[in-house]
Amino acid sequence: MTDITTDVLIIGTGPAGSATAALLSSYGIANMAVNRYRWLANTPRAHITNQRTMEVLRDLGRDVEDEAYMFATHQELMGENIFCESLAGEEIGRLKAWGNHPLSKAEHLMSSPTRMNDLPQTYMEPLLFKTACSRGTQGRLSTEYLRHVQDETGVTTTCRDRLTGQEITIRSKYLVGADGGKSLVAEHAGLPFEGRMGVGGSMNILFRADLSKYVAHRPSVLYWVMQPGADVGGIGMGLVRMVRPWNEWLIVWGYDINGPEPEVTEEFATGVARQLVGDPELKIELLSANTWTVNNFYATRTSNGRVFCMGDAIHRHPPSNGLGSNTSIQDAFNLAWKLALVLKGQAGERLLDSYDAERAPVARQIVTRANQSITETGPIFAALGMAEGVDPVQMQKNLQARTDGTPAAELQREAIRKAIAFKKYEFDAHGVEMNQRYRSDAVVTDDQLEPDFQLDPQLHYQPTTWPGARLPHAWLYRHDDGAEVSTLDLCGHGRFTLLTGLGGEAWAEAAGKVARDLGIDLVAHVIGPRQTYVDHSGDWARASEIKDNGCLLVRPDHHVCWRATGLVAQPEAELARVLRQVLAR
Ligand code: FDA
Repeated sequence: MTDITTDVLIIGTGPAGSATAALLSSYGIANMAVNRYRWLANTPRAHITNQRTMEVLRDLGRDVEDEAYMFATHQELMGENIFCESLAGEEIGRLKAWGNHPLSKAEHLMSSPTRMNDLPQTYMEPLLFKTACSRGTQGRLSTEYLRHVQDETGVTTTCRDRLTGQEITIRSKYLVGADGGKSLVAEHAGLPFEGRMGVGGSMNILFRADLSKYVAHRPSVLYWVMQPGADVGGIGMGLVRMVRPWNEWLIVWGYDINGPEPEVTEEFATGVARQLVGDPELKIELLSANTWTVNNFYATRTSNGRVFCMGDAIHRHPPSNGLGSNTSIQDAFNLAWKLALVLKGQAGERLLDSYDAERAPVARQIVTRANQSITETGPIFAALGMAEGVDPVQMQKNLQARTDGTPAAELQREAIRKAIAFKKYEFDAHGVEMNQRYRSDAVVTDDQLEPDFQLDPQLHYQPTTWPGARLPHAWLYRHDDGAEVSTLDLCGHGRFTLLTGLGGEAWAEAAGKVARDLGIDLVAHVIGPRQTYVDHSGDWARASEIKDNGCLLVRPDHHVCWRATGLVAQPEAELARVLRQVLAR
């Protein structure tokens, strides 16, 4: 007997599940999100929140975006990525990170209306979950997923109510597996994976202590510490991570995965904290401690029939580059509008295939990137003569040697500088965060050639309106009151958008007709002098890569799905052709 029915059942209320629920509810789709625990994240695992994720939050509403900034540590306090022998000890070098280098800051400002920030998962999850539930999601905590079976019309899922111990069945049209790195849904759906789980061992030690005197003059999210054992397991080096400036911290410390799992007692945790801070008398208030494994594992297929997996369920990797929660929320932004359109009867089911085509390559990319970042810490150890392991006596000698005026010492200084600068690929890789270009049936390129990247695509975001890419951001000005509005703000909210300019009014008119014919939500904007939105700076004209009388068709997730460089003889027929393909109709 079925106890409950809903359109979409979401397993997990982490960043992926809560974001999916919030988006589906915003689009008016009935959904239920379950979590086996009685509440949300109890440790602040994810924190680096990139611009693309903030764009998803902004799409959910300015109130959601503003609340994130209110709780976040702002970008200006994230920047001095420090490498040191301990917080109290000698600094080996530093790297301006997370969009704080002046050149990188300019790129961030030009790329998005949003700002990168540090929002611990203990704040992000409640924000997303609250947004979801206040808009219609049925949130069901203490409810554990056990198994599912799917048929032609839907999925029947069995869960255990952990308060009563009773099993309940939930019938839904679709099932979303957002149940994290040990996903049972992905396993039961038979998703294929590549890579390896458990390539390294790591532990989190969460504590309170006022460390202002060591850090406030060099504000950062991450302080990397080279102490004996710092090269074993873990994420490249010992890490003292700011959770709240400057009195709440998370230490990430590795252990040998081939040995026994350490028991992280209070005494052990205090010892590690003292060692990394460099203060043998340090008193900490230990909040929690746990071990976890470094993984290098991704799904090569992200869905099976009516079951779609996302987040850590399909990409499992170390926190290097801060991509996990970000990518999870972006998975949700990709899938939610597709489910909504199919459920509303506005798109054919084949549209859902594009989720796999578009997000499986991202899963592979970020898992590879994050694991590579760990190995790229090696040259810093090597430059200090610590490639074989950190020996404090030898390290003191080597740190002393780099102060000499000899050519050999100069070479060593150069090697350290280079090795640290190379870590830009982990700590300031704007391209990795922003350059996703989709290839699928939900994108129509009409054989237009993809533009090459002019700069390193991992480090630099390159805006383009080539179909598949995210719509470039440019500030426009509202004609009525001069208010700044991003091009991205004109799009999203579960609708398609057509952007054109003066001379392209026929596109806008055609959009209205095609939207009525297909029964879909499609808004059109003509941008230009004396129109509702004006491009005073010319930034949009430069970014749009089309003529004023051309048009861009933008999907609800801000990705361009088609463009025409100029007006054509039959705009209505063209738009109908493209939308029918994108919507699989
Ligand atoms: P997540 O694991 O968060 O959530 C899974 C959900 O499923 C939970 O609600 C769980 O209770 C539920 N669940 C599981 N099994 C279930 C079952 N059988 N029945 C019911 N519910 C079930 N990322 C990032 O973007 N930036 C960063 O800076 C960092 N930093 C960072 C630091 C550290 C130390 C770690 C360990 C990790 C990070 N991450 C990160 C990664 C980030 O934490 C991770 O990628 C996300 O939490 C993944 O979100 P998901 O929603 O996919 O899974």
